[in-house]
Amino acid sequence: MDMGEHTNTTTTTKTEQSLVFAVNGQRFELSEVDPSTTLLEFLRSQTSFKSVKLGCGEGGCGACVVLLSKYDPVHDKVDDFTVSSCLTLLCSVNGCSITTAEGVGNSKDGFHPIQERFSGFHASQCGYCTPGMCVSLYSALVNADKTNRPEPRPGFSKLSVSEAEKSIAGNLCRCTGYRPIVDACKTFAADVDMEDLGLNSFWEKGESDEAKLSRLPPYHHNNATCTFPEFLKKEITAGVNLASEGYYWYSPVSLEQLQSLLQMDEENDGTSTKIVVGNTGMGYYKEVVHHNKYIDLRYIPELSIIRKDLAGIEIGASVPISKAVEAMKEVNEGEFNQEGKLVFKKLADHMERIASGFIRNSASIGGNLIMAQRKHFPSDIATILLAVDTMVDILTGQRHEKITLEEFLGRPPLVSKSVLVSIKIPCWKSSRDISYLLYETYRAAPRPIGNALSYLNGAFLAEVSLCKNSAGIILNNCRLAFGAYGTKHSIRARKVEEFLSAKLLNVGVLYEAIKLVESTVLPEDGTSCPAYRSSLAVGFLFEFLSPFINNPADTNSFQRDGSNSSLLFKDSKIKQNFDQFDQIKSSTLLSSAKQVIQLSEEYHPVGKPITKAGATIQASGEAVYVDDIPSPRNCLHGAFIYSTEPLARVKGIKFKPGSSLDGVTTLISFKDIPGENVGSQTMFGSEPLYADELTQCAGQRIALVVADTQKNADMAANLAVIDYDKEDLEPILSVEEAFERCSFFEVPPYLYPEQVGDYSKGMAEADHQILSAEIKLGSQYYFYMETQTALAVPDEDNCMVVYTSSQCPETAHDTIAKCLGVPGHNVRVITRRVGGGFGGKAIKAMPVSTACALAAYKLNRPVRMYVNRKTDMIMAGGRHPMKITYSVGFKTNGKITALKLDILIDAGMSPDISPIMPHNILGSLRKYDWGALAFDIKVCKTNLPSRSAMRAPGEVQASFIAEAIIEHVASALALGVDSVRNINLHNYESLELFFKTSAGEPLEYTLPSIWDKLAMSSSFYHRTEMIKEFNRCNKWRKRGISRVPIVHHVMLRATPGKVSILHDGSIVVEVGGIELGQGLWTKVKQMTAYALSLVQCGGTEELLEKVRVIQADTLSLIQGGFTAGSTTSESSCEAVRLCCNILVERLTALKEKLVEQMGSIKWETLILQAYGSSVNLSTNSLYVPDFSSMQYLNYGAAVSEVEVNLLTGQTTILQTDIIYDCGQSLNPAVDLGQIEGAFVQGIGFFMLEEYPTNSNGLVVAEGTWTYKIPTVDTIPKQFNVEILNSGHHKKRILSSKASGEPPLTLAVSVHCAIRAAIKEARQQLHSWGGLDESNSTFQLEVPATMPVVKELCGLDSVQRFLQWTISTK
Ligand SMILES: Cc1cc2nc3c(=O)[nH]c(=O)nc-3n(C[C@H](O)[C@H](O)[C@H](O)COP(=O)(O)OP(=O)(O)OC[C@H]3O[C@@H](n4cnc5c(N)ncnc54)[C@H](O)[C@@H]3O)c2cc1C
Ligand code: FES
Ligand code: FES
Repeated sequence: MDMGEHTNTTTTTKTEQSLVFAVNGQRFELSEVDPSTTLLEFLRSQTSFKSVKLGCGEGGCGACVVLLSKYDPVHDKVDDFTVSSCLTLLCSVNGCSITTAEGVGNSKDGFHPIQERFSGFHASQCGYCTPGMCVSLYSALVNADKTNRPEPRPGFSKLSVSEAEKSIAGNLCRCTGYRPIVDACKTFAADVDMEDLGLNSFWEKGESDEAKLSRLPPYHHNNATCTFPEFLKKEITAGVNLASEGYYWYSPVSLEQLQSLLQMDEENDGTSTKIVVGNTGMGYYKEVVHHNKYIDLRYIPELSIIRKDLAGIEIGASVPISKAVEAMKEVNEGEFNQEGKLVFKKLADHMERIASGFIRNSASIGGNLIMAQRKHFPSDIATILLAVDTMVDILTGQRHEKITLEEFLGRPPLVSKSVLVSIKIPCWKSSRDISYLLYETYRAAPRPIGNALSYLNGAFLAEVSLCKNSAGIILNNCRLAFGAYGTKHSIRARKVEEFLSAKLLNVGVLYEAIKLVESTVLPEDGTSCPAYRSSLAVGFLFEFLSPFINNPADTNSFQRDGSNSSLLFKDSKIKQNFDQFDQIKSSTLLSSAKQVIQLSEEYHPVGKPITKAGATIQASGEAVYVDDIPSPRNCLHGAFIYSTEPLARVKGIKFKPGSSLDGVTTLISFKDIPGENVGSQTMFGSEPLYADELTQCAGQRIALVVADTQKNADMAANLAVIDYDKEDLEPILSVEEAFERCSFFEVPPYLYPEQVGDYSKGMAEADHQILSAEIKLGSQYYFYMETQTALAVPDEDNCMVVYTSSQCPETAHDTIAKCLGVPGHNVRVITRRVGGGFGGKAIKAMPVSTACALAAYKLNRPVRMYVNRKTDMIMAGGRHPMKITYSVGFKTNGKITALKLDILIDAGMSPDISPIMPHNILGSLRKYDWGALAFDIKVCKTNLPSRSAMRAPGEVQASFIAEAIIEHVASALALGVDSVRNINLHNYESLELFFKTSAGEPLEYTLPSIWDKLAMSSSFYHRTEMIKEFNRCNKWRKRGISRVPIVHHVMLRATPGKVSILHDGSIVVEVGGIELGQGLWTKVKQMTAYALSLVQCGGTEELLEKVRVIQADTLSLIQGGFTAGSTTSESSCEAVRLCCNILVERLTALKEKLVEQMGSIKWETLILQAYGSSVNLSTNSLYVPDFSSMQYLNYGAAVSEVEVNLLTGQTTILQTDIIYDCGQSLNPAVDLGQIEGAFVQGIGFFMLEEYPTNSNGLVVAEGTWTYKIPTVDTIPKQFNVEILNSGHHKKRILSSKASGEPPLTLAVSVHCAIRAAIKEARQQLHSWGGLDESNSTFQLEVPATMPVVKELCGLDSVQRFLQWTISTK
């Protein structure tokens, strides 16, 4: 196909000036630009630099980060900083130099050590996040090395470990679990302890620091200087003005120019104007209208100033947050008094937790406040500035108005012709010599160091002094601001302030104040978790004031800290009181992690922790994903229109009246399907590509808009209005309704697991019973960084080539052929790499490739689609929600004798793979010996999106169900949970009873030894004791620890492979498995090298370098099957081994003959001779596992320790220790990555990720703002993993075992540890009279989010504590 030509995606405009900038040193000059074009759109569609990935389009993921360099001709200085290219407007980069990951380093000009170290530290799996990560780190290096810090040790930069960690804090990665990424970043840090760096391919354990350093790809700290192109320096102008037919971009350089532009606007009401600075607001308030005119405020001096004087700091409205932070931190000697400095520092610290670095670098202070004022954005800046009496300067026409921020926020939305010019933050000082100023800010958000909006934020400024007459502290006056809690704008809690003013602080006063706060901070109707948010306000004020209560303080208790931290309290009691709230203080986010692996040489190079194939080109952004394939000539783009009703007749589709449907070609629906209406299929049935007359769930595809660009297609799809008829239709929206209406999918009897033992007998043997307890579990979204995408290109003779990001191209192929009504051989599906799958690119990817193929077929033009994050989230379905009812019988010692489960699984509208769920659930649930096990599992058909397999489908839920039952039993008996786990672990006999043939041999049952070993290696018992002590000493922080086992059943499937040896001795391999980031290609490469080396001729040591695994092509290798269930890597390896065995056999006779003739022979010569002798050097095979070895069990255990903050419900995972049996690992580095990555994805499920729907079942979490996957600040602070080598096993593939999914289920250990901490909190609450005895058993929901945890710890715990204190005095 012709891939040579790009389609032009921008609207053409004529201008007198032109936009000039550079990308990776290459000059670009554009005179015709649609001003709404983002930098990302330009880079991806108009240049060859595809490393900038679109992960979210809203500033929340970091996949699109680039380095922007600006030259300041006056000071001859270059400013380098990261920005998100998905929000940065192209017109705003005039005169700038942009560096993408390709510009940092690449395969042609040489990789940068960042990229090589990412690869060597195994820090890239699917690679979709990697270019963004590398650019973020690169920027941190460039900037650190510009500072005048002391020269670092040779080989290092001036970056510190803490900065290295934080450099990637705003970048999301769904694969790795972050630990290896952080390690790669830390290799550059001047203060790093090399001992702390984890498993890598550069050195081996125990080498000296010098040796280690010498093995790292070298870095010289002035290497990172980002050179600004000389040619561009000469072309620097102030902003650019571009104008033409109907579109304008203005960069006024004075207030006068701005005024006249705004004036013009008023006179000409036909235009729609947008004022912009960083344009990051678009990340939150998505653009629905096309603006004709843009006014860039960044070149107006009054809006860009930072002026400091003794009275305070004035900050221009267009100053980026990061510059404001710098200005407030870098206070020169004598500039401000100590207290003023303290306030500025606290403001800066808080602002550093807003969004992420690459947003703060362009997001302006003014833009934030305007969003807060006009649109009620839950701003942090408004709150923290409100408490310090900030003034704002507004300009309307000629009129400047200086008013307080409070008045500004309270006014009606600012009219469009008004601009915010600047703000002034006063420099604070206590009014009297004997009083002291305190300022603190707070925010409670799912991610501690940023990149998440807060549930509530607060800022308190107070002046206190010592009471002359009595020992105590008087609060002279205070300013208390709260915001972001579901209020129009941040507020001052005036009543509380008045009440507190001039009061001697004591428990009674605090209690009254808190009651007032409770009645002041009231979220508006419709806000989520309103009671939680109010309780946060209470908690924060308590945290602020309680340290001063009832302390025999005297004047000497206070001392101003000369440096930059807070006021010091010399009185140790006050100090202690403060400490009780502080989470563990450490300058770094993560402490050192341990990885223990046991290498095996038996099948060299199999078993070696070699780096992932292609990791370096992933890091440089040169790896090609589907959306990186250049668009063929005439390519069109598609966007789905989906239903918002769960069950309705579709009467018609219209577009909103008056919408201009730019570039739209056509609309495609089920009526256009020449073959069958099928979008995806499994062995259990199919799902239609488009709803026919009846839509069966909200989120179902109804049609496809096809347009000239993805942006136009997306815009048009947004403007679609569907006409529904719902008469007489009753959707099923819950499993309970499905049960009532007997709406189930059939589970084939051979897939339905067998019951174990006699339940009634088991119950009869029990001393105690719990009957009909209930648990509910929600869904989880895949959050692959690359959303669903495909490109279909019509080929000659009615054929279709489809490039797709898919875990099962073979089934996609079949689906496309059926839908188009063509024979299978007319379709060819190609998948090279997948930017994250986790199950979501299996069934759920098929409709995307089928829709593209159908549109391409109909229009006879190439059609591609890159589904936007919101639509992807709406259609993905995700994990299966379920309702579980259990009855369990047990002995007094905790031994369970019988368990019965009734499970209702919500499968959604079509079967997908749901009928395998009972099998999977039982596979993992049987990890304990339940005595007898009975169950009734129903797969419910509902009018909700069909749920699909997500990493460890059913197994993670089962792991949770099992632990919830164990916890319940322990709680009912008041026994330690660990002892109940212990007593119910299988011995080999019970294992055999529960798992039959898959139990394997006695020696294979490694769980008991893992269990004991882990107790030792994690110091489980010792830490359990320490935690008791900690909890005794701490009121507001409680810790919990938990150890859990897993038994995880897997099954191998038939998998094909093909190996061909080329003329020069290089080797090409094709396998059924798809590279999803899980390292499948790497293991296959190792296996090929090992198996071919058995030919035993010279030069086979280098075979590894000679192997290339190539893309999956469904016409080249058939029967590829699914890449799922954790076993595809090993079965692909085995298929390849079979091929290699045949090749070795074919070559051996020739080799022996040649050795006889020549003495020895090299691989290349052998192959050359084989070509000459017409030996067939290509072979394929289908590995079919035999019955006796196709199923086996995986074992592992984890200990997690957490700390819960009882005021906010925030959980910190202090440490996790895992031991996992990988058999004889095929590649321990790859398996380690799978274990850590899966575990962190499990943390997401258990702690963070909420995937809610509205009453119609339409998903309402639409992107990174509301869906929070783990980030570097939410993973275990210390994360130790040991991969157990359980030795040789003849039935495993080279003795290996799977690692992709089972470790995810270990994350339940975190949930159990949280439960343990909550238990402590509740006991304490009980002692304060806040809970009665009957509440000692509780269910902890999944995910255990902050509001959930706080609610269980007592939303009113502060009030209870104060009441109790008052009453016991
Ligand atoms: C991923 C992400 C996370 C975020 N997290 C947080 C957070 O946790 N806490 C928080 O407080 N904020 C957060 N923000 C908001 C962020 O601070 C604002 O988006 C940013 O400050 C807006 O500045 P901007 O220059 O990009 O404004 P723009 O997007 O350019 O403009 C925003 C709006 O203000 C108008 N405008 C801008 N400047 C002026 C002016 N001087 N006079 C009149 N009108 C003007 C524009 O017309 C537009 O309507 C987050 C943003 C993103 C993208
Ligand atoms: S794509 Fe730009 S931050 Fe996610
Ligand atoms: S490697 Fe980070 S998202 Fe896949």
